[in-house]
Amino acid sequence: MPVTIKSEREIELMRKAGEILARTHEELAAAIRPGMTTMDIDRLGEKIIRGFGCIPSFKNYNGYPASICVSVNDEVVHGIPSKHRYLEEGDIVSLDAGVIYKGYHSDAARTVAVGKISPEAEKLIEVTRQCFFEGMKFAKAGNHLNDISTAIQAYAEKFGYGVVRDLVGHGIGTHLHEDPEVPNFAQKKKGIRLEPGMTLAVEPMINMGRPDVIWMDDDWTVKTEDGSLSAHYENTILITDGEPELLSLMH
Ligand code: MF3
Ligand code: CO
Repeated sequence: MPVTIKSEREIELMRKAGEILARTHEELAAAIRPGMTTMDIDRLGEKIIRGFGCIPSFKNYNGYPASICVSVNDEVVHGIPSKHRYLEEGDIVSLDAGVIYKGYHSDAARTVAVGKISPEAEKLIEVTRQCFFEGMKFAKAGNHLNDISTAIQAYAEKFGYGVVRDLVGHGIGTHLHEDPEVPNFAQKKKGIRLEPGMTLAVEPMINMGRPDVIWMDDDWTVKTEDGSLSAHYENTILITDGEPELLSLMH
C-alpha cells in the first residue's frame, strides 16, 4: 500500500486521538503499584479509553484478546493481561495502547516502574525513551526513513543494549498498521523520503542484553531470548515542514 499523506482534517482527528491516548497513559502510569494484576491494568485502561468516547484499537485486532498490551520485565511486547499475574515491587512494565477516535488511530507505549526499581532498570527505561527522541532529531521532511532508524540504533548500542529486530514501527491513520515499516535499526536502503503529512508510530524496543526475542505458546507474548529486561517507548508522530509533531504526548 502507498504511504498516505494526511489532510488537515485527518490530522486534526489524529491530534484528538493522540491527546486522548496521552492522557490515558498518564492515568495508567499513575495507577501502577505492586499487588495489581496485569488484568487490572487492562480493565482500567479500557475504562479510561471508553470514557473518552474512543475505541481501544487492540481489542480483537488479529484476535488479540485485550485492550492494553502489558509486558513485564523480560517480556518485550504484546503481553496478554492475566488475573493471575501480579506486579511486584522492582518490576518494570511496558504498557502499549491504541485508540480510535472518529475512525483515526493513535498508538503509544511507555515502560513504567513498579515501586522502587534497580538503577540498571531505570537506565534502560530512560535510554529507550531517549532512543525515540534521538530518532526524532531526524524525523523531518526531506530526510529519509533510515535516518530515524540509524539514530535509534546508534544511541541504544552506545549503552551496550540490544535493539529488537523482529518487530518494527509503522505508518498509522485509518488503520493501526499502515506502510511504511519503521525499523529501529539501520537498513541497507535509505527508505522513503519523509514528507509533511505522513503519520508514523515510532517505537524502539530495547533489550538490556541481546537483541534476540522468542514467541511464547500464547502466540502473542514476545520475550527476550536471554531473559534480560526489555523496555518500549512509542509515540504517534506527524512529519511537518519543521520539527515533528508528537501527537500522543501531552503538550
Ligand atoms: N502497539 C502495537 C504495535 O505497534 C500493536 C499491538 S498488537 C495488538 O504494533 F494486537 F495488540 F493490537
Ligand atoms: Co505501534
